[in-house]
Amino acid sequence: MLACQRHLFDIPDDVAYLNCAYMSPLMKPAIEAGIWGLKRKAHPWELTAPEFFTGAEEFRVIAARFFGSTPDCIAVVSSAGYGIQTAALNLPAGKGQKIVVLDEQFPSNYYPWHQLADQRGADLKVVRWPADNDWTAAVLDSLTPDVAIAALPNVQWTSGGRLDLVRIGEACRKVGAALALDLTQSLGVLPFDVSTVQPDFAVAACYKWLLGPYSLGALYVAPKWHNGVALEQGWIQRANAQDFSSLVLYSDEYDAGARRFDMGERANFASIPAAVQAMKQILDWGVEEISATSAAFNRYLAESATELGFSAPNEPLRAPHYLCLRKAEPITPELTRTLAREKVYVSVRGTSMRVTPHAYNTREDCDRLIACLKRIAAK
Ligand SMILES: Cc1ncc(COP(=O)(O)O)c(C=O)c1O
Repeated sequence: MLACQRHLFDIPDDVAYLNCAYMSPLMKPAIEAGIWGLKRKAHPWELTAPEFFTGAEEFRVIAARFFGSTPDCIAVVSSAGYGIQTAALNLPAGKGQKIVVLDEQFPSNYYPWHQLADQRGADLKVVRWPADNDWTAAVLDSLTPDVAIAALPNVQWTSGGRLDLVRIGEACRKVGAALALDLTQSLGVLPFDVSTVQPDFAVAACYKWLLGPYSLGALYVAPKWHNGVALEQGWIQRANAQDFSSLVLYSDEYDAGARRFDMGERANFASIPAAVQAMKQILDWGVEEISATSAAFNRYLAESATELGFSAPNEPLRAPHYLCLRKAEPITPELTRTLAREKVYVSVRGTSMRVTPHAYNTREDCDRLIACLKRIAAK
């Protein structure tokens, strides 16, 4: 377990922020890197053409380490939705074929597939919430030969259920299905490796477990799709982009690897350095160590919450960093408002109370949540 890293964040002592799955706090060194970058635009005459490229390349190099890929396979995108839409633009699905998604899947990984199914005469195949909470087994059952695409996360976001993507990837290859992943609720806190999972596309927004700023994400594109169709047809994704004076000598050639899938204006001078700084810190701590730290808080919380009538699946069916507590009756968003009045922050998603601690949390934060829940139960 990591020692508490709260000193790197601007979190007042009286705030118990247990809500990384909503939005992580930006750490102080990342804020400094972002401010440095924002200020660069105060003097645009000092911003040279190569700088439109160097930041994005640094981002690619460091983001690639979270995917276990080469930087060449990473595109700089604005959101998880952007990455999933790119996947939907490229993956084939024919009439009558199936696209597998999960019950209550996050909308950015649902709507693009819903639209694709409509356009191609394919059908969505929704894996229902399994009574035994074994999402992996339920997905494996759904992977029949008529499945064209499995569009999945590593963690089902309203239950905290963990999917074994290595086994699922293998099963997809057996039936000839493509695999598109939304890793927003796991990359940075669960180890991941494209060489064992072998996805076609995998995306993560940076603002949660990658501890980065908002409006930035990393998209892994498998080499077999590097000649695919990009969402945007801008200038910076083209092979001749570095030569600003010749941009109107239009080129049919794209920049190498996954760079053609980059979003427009990817050279964000403020958010790219902040994201890079945050990812470097995560790698310094170690993804496994962060995972073990969150896991220890969550085990403690799950045990205390059980005494108050809450329940949650145990690991390994539940992701270690992601605790969704349920009660016999649905939990409503009113609970988060009550807790927020005590400066205790969690989320309600679906009918669960979602608690997602990180290395900036303390045992006292957990105790404050439990104490509040006890007071609410006693009323
Ligand atoms: C599972 C999951 N994916 C993606 C996102 C964010 O999606 P986007 O980057 O498209 O806004 C969230 C945000 O809560 C999420 O929980």
